[in-house]
Amino acid sequence: MSHSVRVFPSREALAQSFAAMLIKDLDRIEPDHYYTIAISGGSTPEYLFRYLAENYADRISWEKLLVFWVDERCVPPEDEESNYRMAYESLLQNVPIPDANIFRIRGEDDPGAEARQYSELVISMVPEYRGMPQFDLMLLGLGDDGHIASVFPDRPDLLTTVHLYEVAVRPDKKQKRITATGRLINNSSKIYYIVTGKSKASIVSRVLEGKTGTDLIPASGIMPVSGHLVWMLDKEAASLL
Ligand code: 6PG
Repeated sequence: MSHSVRVFPSREALAQSFAAMLIKDLDRIEPDHYYTIAISGGSTPEYLFRYLAENYADRISWEKLLVFWVDERCVPPEDEESNYRMAYESLLQNVPIPDANIFRIRGEDDPGAEARQYSELVISMVPEYRGMPQFDLMLLGLGDDGHIASVFPDRPDLLTTVHLYEVAVRPDKKQKRITATGRLINNSSKIYYIVTGKSKASIVSRVLEGKTGTDLIPASGIMPVSGHLVWMLDKEAASLL
């Protein structure tokens, strides 16, 4: 596992670097092959998506991407809480990616059934490595409590379960979620954290400097099996490192 921390002077510089990485990766994709990406919700991913749509709509080979979700709120796709809706409005409707390349989690369906169904979909669409689907790129945000995806501190079992997607509940809002689990995330070829803003400085410092104490911090359970882990931070989020 390789691990790197990249600090940028602004979230715009971070987004530009992310775009350059994606362009380079897509240039390496062989004809008739695809690049599989799983995306998170949250305000930081949303900023990145808007930036890509505004500045890279005609500079990235979008048709080479297969887009999946790291997690989804158990709401219909038109709900303002929907991660699909956020990604669609900020990015997907604004770039030339075929609808057939977009695989949303059906938040409107029975959560348990959809977690199983989506796990099967990912198995069928994402190339395998060491017995599990291996995403080319897993894009994670970081919650103030150290959650990743919808793996919250009260569910350490989601870091080790054999199921690829499971049902979780956001503790404060009691909102049901469908989430990728630790083993699937850790099997990715690349895991990129995108974290910006002063409010994240404390949790970033705790995770990166191992100051977790007795608390379970799900982000500390993200250690790629053999892939690359990259933290992309703006200087505010990195200010306590
Ligand atoms: C979600 C996300 C979640 C998010 C983090 C960071 O569905 O909410 O998957 O893991 O990425 O909470 O969100 P912010 O960038 O908004 O703090």
